[in-house]
Amino acid sequence: MKRIAVLPGDGIGPEVTAQALRVLKEVAPDMETDVLGHVNADTYLATGTALGDEDFARVADSDGALLGAVGDPRVTNPAYARDVLLRLRFDLDLYVNHRPAKLLHERLSPLRDPDRRAIDCTVIRENTEGLYSGIGGTLRVGTPHETAVDTELSTYRGVSRALEFAFARATTSVCLVDKANAVPNNGALWQRCFREAAQRRPDLATRHLYVDAAVMHLVDDPTAFDVIVANNSHGDILSDLTAQLAGGMGTAASANLNPETGFALCEPVHGSAPDLAGTGTANPLAAILSAALLLDCASRPAEATAVRDAVGRTLSKRLCTADLGGSLTTAEAGNAVLAELS
Ligand code: NAD
Ligand code: IPM
Ligand code: MN
Repeated sequence: MKRIAVLPGDGIGPEVTAQALRVLKEVAPDMETDVLGHVNADTYLATGTALGDEDFARVADSDGALLGAVGDPRVTNPAYARDVLLRLRFDLDLYVNHRPAKLLHERLSPLRDPDRRAIDCTVIRENTEGLYSGIGGTLRVGTPHETAVDTELSTYRGVSRALEFAFARATTSVCLVDKANAVPNNGALWQRCFREAAQRRPDLATRHLYVDAAVMHLVDDPTAFDVIVANNSHGDILSDLTAQLAGGMGTAASANLNPETGFALCEPVHGSAPDLAGTGTANPLAAILSAALLLDCASRPAEATAVRDAVGRTLSKRLCTADLGGSLTTAEAGNAVLAELS
């Protein structure tokens, strides 16, 4: 991976991405970055499009990408997220959303029982189908007969390739999370594909949970999970929960991947946090750890590990932002990671 497209986005996105870029430049100075600073809500409000075809081509022609966050209180139209984030996921066919959650420090767990705190699991989220398919519409808007449809779409190919990645990533077990008792057609396809994928990995334990029970079990004992695989919407929700169990939204990183093309778009799990934007207090660790995931995807495990270890050392010294019990600003937290690296 030589050239990385960078999309800082909105709100805290540019603030945390700036720190991730400093870290990336420190550990991988040979990587070139192409910053698309105009792909944001201001551009969307001014022109109706934030990521034009030329911008899309710039990202697609790069070897990988780093994104901050998209979302702005002034933009209520969900077409904006579809224009940028979902377009990148769909049109680059980044069909896996890999969202690891590992407890970064004992004191960051919200759980009472010390024996159950050490979460180290990964949500593998199908990233191009499900309720995000974009198939649907409305009828008779504004009348008492208004009707709205958003179609949950699953294809054999889409489901099997996400499951294949989940089984390849697992070391001990894979848990399928769905809602097959109420959403039977999608559920049956996922369950059949799950059985097929499981047959190819007899060394792994398998488990199935309905999503409502899954959130309960996750909070009860997250250490019981290795890989959790789920459709697009369930994976979205589960990964905020695993993020909070592992240290909070300020620390959760993710990679949108296509294992065949090797393209990775890495981004924090969190959004643009309008409540924090401009205060200089947002935690940059999720963005920095997203840069570490990008280094993993670039087959640079030594640099990725150096970043993760440096982050761990800052947390042990409480050199972090207020959400993690520290008192540093976003830039100071970035400085602390850089100091541990050098
Ligand atoms: P959010 O993740 O932005 O914020 C949720 C909570 O977590 C807030 O209390 C926020 O202060 C906190 N938080 C988030 N990031 C943090 C950080 N780095 N450090 C400390 N605290 C942090 O979710 P939301 O409020 O539901 O969404 C805000 C906007 O972001 C919306 O427009 C939403 O659509 C968008 N969004 C974008 C992405 C993305 O770009 N991948 C992801 C989620 C939400
Ligand atoms: C995420 C976000 C997005 C999603 C939104 C902003 C469309 O919540 O990346 O987790 O639902 O995928
Ligand atoms: Mn989300």
